[in-house]
Amino acid sequence: MKNKIEFQKKCQTIITNQKNKMKALILTGFLFLITWVPSLAKLTEEVPGSNGRQRISINEGWSFFKYESAAKADKLIYDVRPEITDNTENKVADAKPTEAVEVEAKQSVLKPWILPSGNDFIKDLAKRHVRPEGNPGGDFPFVKNNFNDRSWEKVNLPHDWAIKGPFQKGWNSEVGGGMGRLPVNGVAWYRKKLDIPASDAGKSIFLDIDGAMSYSIVWLNGHLVGGWPYGYNSFRLDLTPFIKFGDENQLAIRVDNPNHSARWYPGAGLYRNVWLTKTNPVYVGQWGTYVTTKAISKESATINLAVSIDNDSKTDATVEVSTSVYRLDEKGNKTGNAVVRFSTLNSKVGSGGSAKVEGSVTIKNPKLWGPPPTQQPNLYVAETTLSENGKIIDTYETRFGIRSVEFNPDKGIFVNGEHILIKGVNQHHDLGALGSAFNTRAAERQLEILREMGCNSIRMAHNPPAPELLELTDRMGFLVIDEIFDSWERKKTPHDFHLIFPDWSEADTRAFIRRDRNCPSVIMWSFGNEVGEQYTDKDGAAVAKRLCDFVKDEDPTRPTTLAMNFAKSDMPLPQVPDVIGLNYQGEGIRQAPEFEGTDRIRTAPQYDAFNAKFPEKVILSTETASAFSSRGIYLFPVSNENSAPVRDGRGGDSKICQVSSYELYAVDFGSSADKVFGSLDRHPFVAGEFVWNGFDYIGEPTPYYEARSSYSGMIDLAGFKKDRFYLYQSRWRPDLPMAHILPHWNWAERIGEVTPVHVFTSGDEAELFLNGKSLGKKKKGEYEYRLRWDDVKYEPGELKVVAYKSGQKWAEEMVKTTGAASQLLVTSDHSQIIADGKDLAFITVQITDKDGLIVPRSNNLIEFSIEGPGEIMATDNGDSYNLESFASHQREAFNGLVLVIVRSKPGEKGTITVTAKSSGLKEANVKLLSK
Ligand code: GAL
Repeated sequence: MKNKIEFQKKCQTIITNQKNKMKALILTGFLFLITWVPSLAKLTEEVPGSNGRQRISINEGWSFFKYESAAKADKLIYDVRPEITDNTENKVADAKPTEAVEVEAKQSVLKPWILPSGNDFIKDLAKRHVRPEGNPGGDFPFVKNNFNDRSWEKVNLPHDWAIKGPFQKGWNSEVGGGMGRLPVNGVAWYRKKLDIPASDAGKSIFLDIDGAMSYSIVWLNGHLVGGWPYGYNSFRLDLTPFIKFGDENQLAIRVDNPNHSARWYPGAGLYRNVWLTKTNPVYVGQWGTYVTTKAISKESATINLAVSIDNDSKTDATVEVSTSVYRLDEKGNKTGNAVVRFSTLNSKVGSGGSAKVEGSVTIKNPKLWGPPPTQQPNLYVAETTLSENGKIIDTYETRFGIRSVEFNPDKGIFVNGEHILIKGVNQHHDLGALGSAFNTRAAERQLEILREMGCNSIRMAHNPPAPELLELTDRMGFLVIDEIFDSWERKKTPHDFHLIFPDWSEADTRAFIRRDRNCPSVIMWSFGNEVGEQYTDKDGAAVAKRLCDFVKDEDPTRPTTLAMNFAKSDMPLPQVPDVIGLNYQGEGIRQAPEFEGTDRIRTAPQYDAFNAKFPEKVILSTETASAFSSRGIYLFPVSNENSAPVRDGRGGDSKICQVSSYELYAVDFGSSADKVFGSLDRHPFVAGEFVWNGFDYIGEPTPYYEARSSYSGMIDLAGFKKDRFYLYQSRWRPDLPMAHILPHWNWAERIGEVTPVHVFTSGDEAELFLNGKSLGKKKKGEYEYRLRWDDVKYEPGELKVVAYKSGQKWAEEMVKTTGAASQLLVTSDHSQIIADGKDLAFITVQITDKDGLIVPRSNNLIEFSIEGPGEIMATDNGDSYNLESFASHQREAFNGLVLVIVRSKPGEKGTITVTAKSSGLKEANVKLLSK
């Protein structure tokens, strides 16, 4: 304990000194993660219970029922919500609760029974909630053991009830473009029977839900257990008092997902993993370990470990706590012998109480965790055992890493002493055509593609991610801003978090930090994105301070940030976070002359102002760009500017709902990548950027709300690279010899017309050839990031670029006019997948000419069939305006490409054959092995 207090004091001193002009804030220490599962592969398996603890996946075999409409649903509501009478997205913002709804629903408001579920995360005991008498909903048929749910749909988790659609079309659709036009709204029930053997009597049994969208309320055997409104947080409910040991137990979960709850697609239902955790009555509590590291060098590091022990038994306990530390290999498996052991500690834990023990140990020659390519994400696991009277009663594993992170306001972020420029992207939580139903392989694929681009950091926009995503970022070595809220008290949409902010903001904030604070990848906490409190001066800052204090109380080792698109340096809000997070303000907002006289916000570039006002704080661009493009679409004329707001005739075409891929066009408040690069290079004190955004996501299809998904990704919704991918790659991977030409060269209708050619290269100079004839050599000027040949007249044939770096030949690339579409080419990202019912193959179909060249503008309809032990989960083509259900087995190509996602079947091994057919084209297939 003493060590910890000293450490905290030291951190505080650092921060205080920093305010007193210290220029470098050095935060060493931390990391780790808490899941007890050291390997991703083992995540869904039962962890052997020999030492008292079992973590059992209960994803399989649920019955699911959704009401036709929320109006017809039962009235077992969490609370009354403002009624929305009008679907027009702007009008709804002003909706008010109506009396009628309030009266009708009053008897069934369950909030008082749900609030106590957050008690462990409310520090002031006096503010904790007391459960009222009674058992609301106990008579409702769906919660009863004998209710016959045979006619309900059978589903496995993670389950997103909305992703199969259908898409809702038109301006008057119930769910608008903002939330992805998918049927996310409504009330649904999930039921599952749990066999709990008599031998479990005396154990504590918990339901661990990694995320349920949203307002989940849980009953077991007809007893209301509790719930958790916020759909993105993980939570635990204690089932023990309601369990029938040696019998069948009925779990029933009600989920209520309001329309107008988000600015993007939230997904719907039990969309993450769900677990049953069984422990002895004395055990390591929920997220009950906290590892911090300090005094880190190549030679040694100090590891501090705090362990919280709960005692649910009727007698006091004396426990012996021992911890050994092992290295994890690249796959996350424990290797070899313990590298270091903590001294054994003893603790008394009173009946019904908790105790905390804490110890430190020095590790010699630690293998540090750091981001590739220059560092390795080395991981350790601390294996903690609790023993009583010489018998092991619990074993708990904490994954962690050892690394130092320094936040230097003049130079940016240093990991283990090495300057790491933040080359980051923002990511929403959906996985494209798979929706929000979490899948580890789908998330891993996204990270692999981002890494290929040179991305080293992810901002979890704007909510806590699935825990497995942080396991991936830990294992793969991405730096992470973990973020919790998009709104506080002030709403952005009528049914967003502001409705529950007063009751849940503390519990949600503390739960979020406690779950993730052992992850080495998490280097910073963000407790808000563009919140309305930016506009409320001191009042807003007071809300921020309260939240920031919760964060610091749970984890004093990492800095906090807020993503601000409005707050200025002279306002009170930016004084609160440690790191200044700017959204778009670095480049300036709506600076183009066409915005003069607008009533929208115009902001001059702000980096210097913030730097002058807060010389002791690191500045980071938490959002940049918000540039738009549709893969493979090129519209003419091409703007001469290096950044322009998209309009019809200037990068946009509202008739086809597509944006040109010349990669010069952005949202009104945003900028092209080129403009952002220029502004970052002029302000080298800025620690880097998180681009809005990495992968396209469902919902928020600015500028065309008739569509289903965003235009701002560098990679489309199907995972196909847009041209922008290469623009970032050219900057983020300067050592990779590459050159990329745009547009494609199939313009039969443009013969003789000016068709600009742009090249993205990591070289500094390049020569372009059209049909062997040089069109000149061009060199990048200062603050130029692409090479442009804007007066090329189109003629069919071959475009070739030869790039140079420092005068030496560096890379070469060619684009050719293709022949007519004649065949399909089918390839899979993996030739083998695991027969576990979870692993995926991402299969790409290309439409090519007879020589195998992709035919750029082809949109043939392709049909898919599958044989063998696999199933087609979804298809997509990356077109934001394609409103065909993701579940469809046929899809038109979008500019030559289609994606098919295939999942293995559990325990069924063998060859899977996926065949693609299209009228008039030679069919093709791909085979993969499921084993
Ligand atoms: C930002 C916001 C993001 C997203 C983006 C789209 O202002 O923080 O969530 O909406 O704009 O351009």
